[in-house]
Amino acid sequence: MQQPIISPSLLSANFNALGQDIEMINQSQADWFHLDIMDGSFVPNISFGFPIIEHVKKMAQKPLDVHLMIVDPDRYIAEFKRVGADYLTVHYEACTHLHRTIQNIKANGMKAGVSLNPHTSVSLLEDILPELDLVLIMSVNPGFGGQKFIAQTYRKIEKLAAMAQKSNPNLIIEVDGGVDSSNAEALCKSGATALVAGNFIFKSAQPKQTISDLKHLNFK
Ligand code: DX5
Ligand code: ZN
Repeated sequence: MQQPIISPSLLSANFNALGQDIEMINQSQADWFHLDIMDGSFVPNISFGFPIIEHVKKMAQKPLDVHLMIVDPDRYIAEFKRVGADYLTVHYEACTHLHRTIQNIKANGMKAGVSLNPHTSVSLLEDILPELDLVLIMSVNPGFGGQKFIAQTYRKIEKLAAMAQKSNPNLIIEVDGGVDSSNAEALCKSGATALVAGNFIFKSAQPKQTISDLKHLNFK
């Protein structure tokens, strides 16, 4: 089992002192910055948009992992590249022409990801899997940080990992929602290779240490 990629979700950061939290992530063992973009339509919440991403990019010394929870993402793909996205992930449920959207993300020079809501089967990705850099499995219903982890996620990851072994062995399998010390190791054993965590990191007493614990799956 390899060490997971760790992607702290800025949704749970302190926006009054965002620079400090960005600096903490820069100095930590985290690999990416996870940015959640919500439009109030695909999900029942609105987060933040381009100006914030642009500011994060100026300070961030690690790739930006941008998770779009928006309808019709095609309208904004070039703009997400301009503000600094490295990985751009769209929702399966929000894309009528997913193949075209994925090609568009790659043509704009970004790594392409697809995210699945808890009710969406990984089988639906069979024909697009070879095209993808990343699949983001939602382990809560998207829209809010701090929700309870859905245990069915393990089975989905195992199934996806088996599919990827055949058609895309380099696929990154990322999990997002309710990730903490109680499930991180089991998720990686199931086949997850990247972990997003918001509340678990930013509500902990020592966020940098918590990132290190996640990276090493060390929860003594
Ligand atoms: C939820 C977002 C997550 C969220 C995770 O819709 O996609 O990235 O910030 O937060 P936690 O880790 O607190 O569940
Ligand atoms: Zn997310």
